[in-house]
Amino acid sequence: MRCICYSIKANDNLAVIRTLARLGSGADIISGGELRRALQAGIAAEQLVFAGPGKTREEMELALASGVGQFNVESPAELEALASAARAQGTQAPVALRVNPDVDAETHDKIATGRRGDKFGIDDGDIAALYARAAALEGIEPVGLAVHIGSQLSRLAPFEAAYERVIDLVEDLRAAGYPVERINLGGGLGVRYRDETPPPVEAYGALVERVRQRIGVTAIIEPGRWLVAPAGVLLTRVIAVKQAGERRCVIVDAAMNDLMRPALYDAWHAIEPVAEPAPGVSTVETDVAGPVCESADVLGRERPLPPLAAGDLLAVRDVGAYGSVMASTYNSRPLAAEVMVRGDALASIRPRQDYETLLARDLVPSWLA
Ligand code: LLP
Repeated sequence: MRCICYSIKANDNLAVIRTLARLGSGADIISGGELRRALQAGIAAEQLVFAGPGKTREEMELALASGVGQFNVESPAELEALASAARAQGTQAPVALRVNPDVDAETHDKIATGRRGDKFGIDDGDIAALYARAAALEGIEPVGLAVHIGSQLSRLAPFEAAYERVIDLVEDLRAAGYPVERINLGGGLGVRYRDETPPPVEAYGALVERVRQRIGVTAIIEPGRWLVAPAGVLLTRVIAVKQAGERRCVIVDAAMNDLMRPALYDAWHAIEPVAEPAPGVSTVETDVAGPVCESADVLGRERPLPPLAAGDLLAVRDVGAYGSVMASTYNSRPLAAEVMVRGDALASIRPRQDYETLLARDLVPSWLA
């Protein structure tokens, strides 16, 4: 198993996965769809960790048949279902139990996953008994523990607290006679969107290495955001400039369906004009909003921007993670085009969805013909 398993959910474009695969990354997958993407991008099944609290029987069967390297199991029911699926295929599922360590990641409420009562993982107090069950269960090969307490963490302390809990549990399991070989420390390292001060990656890496050495295990991490967020910009064109009460508002052709993060998490992304403003031009506080019929459809509020006119291009920064993967076609807006840039080279990696494809998803029943 590779030590870095890129979390595909952050950006699932085949070209992005392939870029990371060629750099030696495995992958963290959450669904049958991501499994297919990872394989198609050239990541070997043994280098895949199948995470997530709701794997269907069908997804388990596909993952087992493909030879996925590790299943992170999140409940007793999932363990039994996975064992049954593995037995039916005459195989063994390599399993890490995901611990809920009851640690607050100190991040946005909607992306914290390690507190008691969150739907993720197995309460730390229940791990010993379930590990014993896993070891006894035909079809399951327990290989270790996993933890992931949330995303966009800007301090090391919550990681440390969660990892300490995992270390204690590994020591308990070993004392009980189970050889624990592997720990999966999840993802979560934050990036700087505005004024956050996430720990440098070296400090995070050093922490992972300390944990690994203390208990002598293979350690896997599942970074998503840190690898891809800063690599993406969303280009959008001004459609109209208007006054909304006291405020200047520009309506642009990108919207909450293209980038959900501001509407969903009140996330802040830098917005800049693509053309360098002439020197000395003064800025005005401007709201940048999309054309969708919801007041939540604002990409940025009160941004100091130079005078703008219809046709001007703006860049919304740091959208490489949880940007296009969370897009929808709300308001029947086709999905945006995606382009990969390398030096001076440009490649289309996801053409703009055309209206034909958008409409072809729907079928009208015969009784309406
Ligand atoms: N491992 C597991 C089990 C996860 O659930 C996640 C992210 C990761 C790894 C990767 O975490 P990262 O390194 O990217 O923080 N849509 C939200 C973020 C959701 C994160 C979901 N899980 C956002 O836009 O902020």
